[in-house]
Amino acid sequence: MNFTTDIFETFDKQWALLTAGNMEKFNTMTISWGGLGTIWGMPVATVYVRTSRYTHEFMDGSEYFTVSFYPEEKKKDLGVLGSKSGRDIDKMHFPGLTATEAGKSVSFEEAEVTLVCRKVFKQTLEPENMEGKIAEQFYSKDAVHDMYIGEVVDIIRR
Ligand SMILES: Cc1cc2nc3c(=O)[nH]c(=O)nc-3n(C[C@H](O)[C@H](O)[C@H](O)COP(=O)(O)O)c2cc1C
Repeated sequence: MNFTTDIFETFDKQWALLTAGNMEKFNTMTISWGGLGTIWGMPVATVYVRTSRYTHEFMDGSEYFTVSFYPEEKKKDLGVLGSKSGRDIDKMHFPGLTATEAGKSVSFEEAEVTLVCRKVFKQTLEPENMEGKIAEQFYSKDAVHDMYIGEVVDIIRR
């Protein structure tokens, strides 16, 4: 299992899809906040999901999730998946993205790299524990983020 990338660019500039559920029912959304690292002796991916997202329900209801990365030509699609909710559009049959089983979760055939993650931790990022200006900027109007840590159990390359 090996993955080399410029991790700051990869999340912040390239973006990713966070997907949870199974082939019968799943949801996906664009993320640009995230991290890769090590904790409890495991390689992990960390993602942050506002409790208002439809994907949040799937993150809570699933043991696994995937974080997948796409070529530049898919950026427009990622823009749509990051601005519309699966409550309002059918993200399971999104044009140009073919859902496929990825370990015990779901990704898309068009992904260059998919990290298959086993959820091992969840915690709410409490605004009261943040620097005041961050709490004010990000949470005075919007729902909080829950942080999920997943053990990276597989890396699938196209
Ligand atoms: C570039 C980009 C990055 C985003 N990153 C995050 C993120 O890290 N966490 C989050 O909760 N929402 C993030 N969003 C917002 C969700 O993708 C967006 O609200 C989406 O419509 C949620 O879909 P859902 O309701 O189907 O889950 C991002 C959106 C864009 C366009």
